[in-house]
Amino acid sequence: MMEHTRIKKLLLSEEYGKEVIVKGWVRTFRNNQFIAINDGSSIHNIQAVIDFTNTPEDILKRITTGAAVRVKGQLVESMGKGQRVEVKATEVAIIGDSHPEKYPLQPKKHSLEFLREIAHLRFRTTTFNAIFKVRNALAFAVHKFFNERDFVYMHTPIITGSDAEGAGEMFRVTTLDLNHIPRTKDGQIDFKEDFFGKSTNLTVSGQLEGELAALAFGNIYTFGPTFRAENSNTTRHLAEFWMIEPEMAFYEIEDNMDLAEALLKYVIKYALETCPEEIEFLKTRLLDEEKSKPQNERSELNLVEKLNFVLDHDFERVTYTNAIEILKRSKPNQKKQFKYLIEEWGADLQSEHERYLVEKHFKKPVILTDYPREIKSFYMKQNAPDAEGRQTVKAMDILFPGIGEMVGGSQREENLDKLLARMDEVGIPAEEMEWFLDTRRFGSVPHSGFGVGFERLVLFTTGMTNIRDVIPFPRTPNNAEF
Ligand code: 4AD
Ligand code: MG
Repeated sequence: MMEHTRIKKLLLSEEYGKEVIVKGWVRTFRNNQFIAINDGSSIHNIQAVIDFTNTPEDILKRITTGAAVRVKGQLVESMGKGQRVEVKATEVAIIGDSHPEKYPLQPKKHSLEFLREIAHLRFRTTTFNAIFKVRNALAFAVHKFFNERDFVYMHTPIITGSDAEGAGEMFRVTTLDLNHIPRTKDGQIDFKEDFFGKSTNLTVSGQLEGELAALAFGNIYTFGPTFRAENSNTTRHLAEFWMIEPEMAFYEIEDNMDLAEALLKYVIKYALETCPEEIEFLKTRLLDEEKSKPQNERSELNLVEKLNFVLDHDFERVTYTNAIEILKRSKPNQKKQFKYLIEEWGADLQSEHERYLVEKHFKKPVILTDYPREIKSFYMKQNAPDAEGRQTVKAMDILFPGIGEMVGGSQREENLDKLLARMDEVGIPAEEMEWFLDTRRFGSVPHSGFGVGFERLVLFTTGMTNIRDVIPFPRTPNNAEF
């Protein structure tokens, strides 16, 4: 049996006088007497009070920030402020030393930028403890939500031979010797010589394989890493991110929207309920951070209010066509403050437009539907042309305040001929997609699905502002450290 008790449990305990053992890392050591110890189980430390007259000098010297220690003592009510209980130490042992000057995480305030450079150690800060606890709660809640609704968790492949989004932003997977690339007679790279005998890449989405499973199980979801080689160095983009992708047979676009809204509310509620201390800490962190901003750039709601606001309100459902009208008439468009002015129907929405709709106009999450066919993926179900002959698809994107696009999804085109025609138009060879097309050949049904960018969900729920701070080891252009 483990001889020590986790700090989270001790902090809740009322067994005063009980002998306990704590194991963890030293956060601070004050006055040769008070050790703040953290073992990761809580954002809070436990204080151990040592009797330095009875502690050997060589041990005292080794109680340094970052060192791993084992403390044995009595759990007692604390006389000091800030904690209810503490450990009156009778025995202190050093499990692992930490050089007092070389340890990068000295007990002071560090910038998020600095902590990103030492991402291997930032888990040991209260901020990152809180962030990754919330991330963990959200991930668990995703599985719980789908499990309660009888969805099957499906593991779709990481290495694929297809471009699910048709956007061409893929990382190639190859074992070819890059110094001696085999060529065919006409000078093309000969992928027959490659590991899989064909050209392969890291998946950008599990959707296409998810559709195959949905047309057998009814309701499935994937939750795994996806990869995009888009050269976007923003606070919202990662080259490797996690995506949750449910896919449902017999669901139409409205059912799809209902499910997405229910999922987001469920997981945010779960995080609020199971990580109250972490979210409270992150709320205070955000308030502190915003103090340095001018009043008009600060959030109107604090983090907890913002999360509750999302739970308490229906998401606004708006068509792309109506959104374009709103944007056209908007102040920043009239005054030419948008970088990309909205002039006509068909324009792709930039994040400045999404943010205007969500943060200024509707002031809540917005589900945008029925986008122009030309700016969306080939697999989306085509609407009948409108009175003006404009072609739209049954797409739905969910936009969140401060985040922009959180979810992208659609009803799928289940009609084989329409799908083939669209693939032809955008240049996707049908021969490579026979397996996908078979779903439309044999027992095709209306179906829908969507993808939630998991890190964007964590960003929103933690109130963090840079996506690099909500995934342990971010992969972004020119950065694959750790
Ligand atoms: O809108 P996307 O590209 O949709 C799909 O991949 C569909 N196959 C999903 C589906 O219908 N099953 O991506 C879905 C979501 C986006 O809304 C966004 O939240 C997130 O994935 N996302 C990213 N997150 C971080 N970094 C990136 N580079 C991202 N690209 C997309
Ligand atoms: Mg999208």
